[in-house]
Amino acid sequence: MKGNKLSVLITGASTGIGRACALHFDNQGFKVYGGVRNSEDYNSLLKAGSDNIQPVILDVCKDEDVANTLKIIWGDKDTKFYGLVNNAGIGISGLIEAIPVSELKRIFEVNFIGLHRVTQAFLPIIRKNKGRIVNIGSSSSFMSGPALGPYSASKFALRSYNDALRIEMKTFGVHVSLIAPGPVESAIWEKAIKYKKEIRKKISPELLKDYDLFVKAGDALFDQIKPIPTVHVVRAVQHALTAKKPKNLYLVGKNAVMAHIFSGLPKKWSDWVFLDRIKKAAGSS
Ligand SMILES: NC(=O)c1ccc[n+]([C@@H]2O[C@H](COP(=O)([O-])OP(=O)(O)OC[C@H]3O[C@@H](n4cnc5c(N)ncnc54)[C@H](OP(=O)(O)O)[C@@H]3O)[C@@H](O)[C@H]2O)c1
Repeated sequence: MKGNKLSVLITGASTGIGRACALHFDNQGFKVYGGVRNSEDYNSLLKAGSDNIQPVILDVCKDEDVANTLKIIWGDKDTKFYGLVNNAGIGISGLIEAIPVSELKRIFEVNFIGLHRVTQAFLPIIRKNKGRIVNIGSSSSFMSGPALGPYSASKFALRSYNDALRIEMKTFGVHVSLIAPGPVESAIWEKAIKYKKEIRKKISPELLKDYDLFVKAGDALFDQIKPIPTVHVVRAVQHALTAKKPKNLYLVGKNAVMAHIFSGLPKKWSDWVFLDRIKKAAGSS
């Protein structure tokens, strides 16, 4: 290895948190491998950063993309691979009775299985270099609720995976952190609105009527969401990757802190609070 330049791989670097992290670590002097899925995003990321940025075509659901990315990174003799930021994810969800099995599979394929595909492939090089792994979970890694089940399930699964991995990696000197942001400004919201419109067309009017309370409340509460800028997540990722003593868990934003506290309440109480809020939101819509 020439010099001491460290490299990181950030999955899902085309937009939002991933792109913000990619540009930040570029700025910090890291070599950044940014995972994107098409040539447009490849060129956009290439143009936005300095020579330190190397976009890579990486669909976390594709074995060949992961193998190819790993080959590129093993082959890079100029930098030492240090950090994996598992950020790629999709924010789609829905009511349990309405979500098609195929859609539930898709959510898990990206948010959970895809993350495993990348992590497992990179563990040998991370262990060798005593690097770090940063998993982007969510406040939904702690708290679920109506119409959030599928997304939360994938992020709960990630939290449990993250816990196991963190302990397994301790003996190798590899630190594993979970970042749990509340709502953050990104392309995820626009995609969620588009998805909601599409999925509703596929639900029978009878079923939609039965779930009217949750549909109305969902729309009203969605409008009340106040996402925070990506920089807050970037700071947490920066700490997890570079601090001498990284934390196991980073709760990013007031909503994440609240969700964490809420998840510790007896379910009898939290269910009551949830339903009360939903009834009020549906009533006001
Ligand atoms: N924004 C929030 O409020 C929030 C809150 C908590 C947690 N998170 C988590 O933060 C992460 C980043 O989300 P974001 O808010 O920045 O949303 P975003 O702007 O939609 O970014 C998601 C990224 O994931 C990529 N991606 C989707 N499917 C992929 C696949 N199969 N393989 C590889 N990459 C894929 C997207 O690439 P394409 O452009 O090619 O689709 C995009 O780069 C996600 O894990 C999300 O669950 C977000």
